[in-house]
Amino acid sequence: MTNIQKTMLKAVEEELQRQVARLDQPRTQPFHEMLTYHMGWTGDGAGPEATGKRIRPLLVLLSTASCNENEVETTTSDTHTSYWLRAKSAAAAVELVHNFSLVHDDIQDNSDKRRGRNTVWVKWGAPMAINAGDALFVIANQAVVDLIEYYPAEIVVKAAKILNDICLDLTRGQFLDMSYEEHSDLGIDDYWPMVSGKTSALLSACTHIGALLGGADESKQEAYRLFGHHLGLAFQVQDDILGIWGDEAVTGKSAASDLVEGKNSLPILYGLGKQGNFAKRWMQGPIAPNEVKEVAAQLEDEGGKSYAKEVAEKETQKALEFLNKADPKGEAGKSMLELANLLLKRNQ
Ligand code: IPE
Ligand code: IPE
Ligand code: MG
Ligand code: MG
Repeated sequence: MTNIQKTMLKAVEEELQRQVARLDQPRTQPFHEMLTYHMGWTGDGAGPEATGKRIRPLLVLLSTASCNENEVETTTSDTHTSYWLRAKSAAAAVELVHNFSLVHDDIQDNSDKRRGRNTVWVKWGAPMAINAGDALFVIANQAVVDLIEYYPAEIVVKAAKILNDICLDLTRGQFLDMSYEEHSDLGIDDYWPMVSGKTSALLSACTHIGALLGGADESKQEAYRLFGHHLGLAFQVQDDILGIWGDEAVTGKSAASDLVEGKNSLPILYGLGKQGNFAKRWMQGPIAPNEVKEVAAQLEDEGGKSYAKEVAEKETQKALEFLNKADPKGEAGKSMLELANLLLKRNQ
């Protein structure tokens, strides 16, 4: 991790804690604890391993910082302020949206593990987890409004609009993801609208809002947005690969769940199109946990894994073309390029 990323992540964590503390109130302490548990700060297994990668806020701040040739640093006798720091509440907002979607997604997907720990619904039950997710969503919107401390109202409203528009896309993506579980007749063309919504929308909002807050003009904002969009597609394809062949100890999620839950992820849709042994088994009905190893191996033999890898690489290349167009500056620019390449190789 680069130095600028470390500095940014520290600022993000502090801002997230400040935002979530809105719920730190009398009578509802256990409710606040559900949020701090999910964010990785409290409870069994709390710590850096439990917070997740914080990629989205990093993308916001790196986008903001890389819009400026000479990222302004003002140092007075006892304070040291970077220009990008003004975007910190937007960075917190996207991470809060992400975490709201994960709390709800784990209910929707019946997933019991997240970041190596029990999910919120496993610990407190689905009704409480729904409410905790709602609170994270509300706090995300409050965090965006906090931008008003540093930015004109017009920019704050634009940032809020981008975030709320993509939240609707996210729910559309989740709708497709869940409704696809009932279908066995889907092809790869059905995949892209689903992942554009459920994953890519938020990543594109990160780089878009980051560029907006960095003072980029419309065409530069669009290049940043498209960089995030394609990065998001590559990111989800990689997540699909890890969802079948990942190491549970590293991903912190159950590797079996995509096959058992009947998710129409990219390797699976590819395998279905091949109409081989994998497709034959898939059509026979739900896959039991004790069959997962064998079915995963079958799908790998039929090319599902290597196809998904190729697609992830292609989307990363597209992302890098848009990043090149966006022409990110300075240390933040270099750092963003490094992050994009790293995401493709990630194993968690
Ligand atoms: C997981 O996202 C959900 C997807 C959209 C693929 P991340 O892999 O960014 O999750 P954390 O925040 O690092 O745990
Ligand atoms: C990720 O969904 C997208 C959202 C949470 C909105 P997935 O269900 O594919 O992600 P994981 O594998 O549970 O993290
Ligand atoms: Mg899901
Ligand atoms: Mg899930």
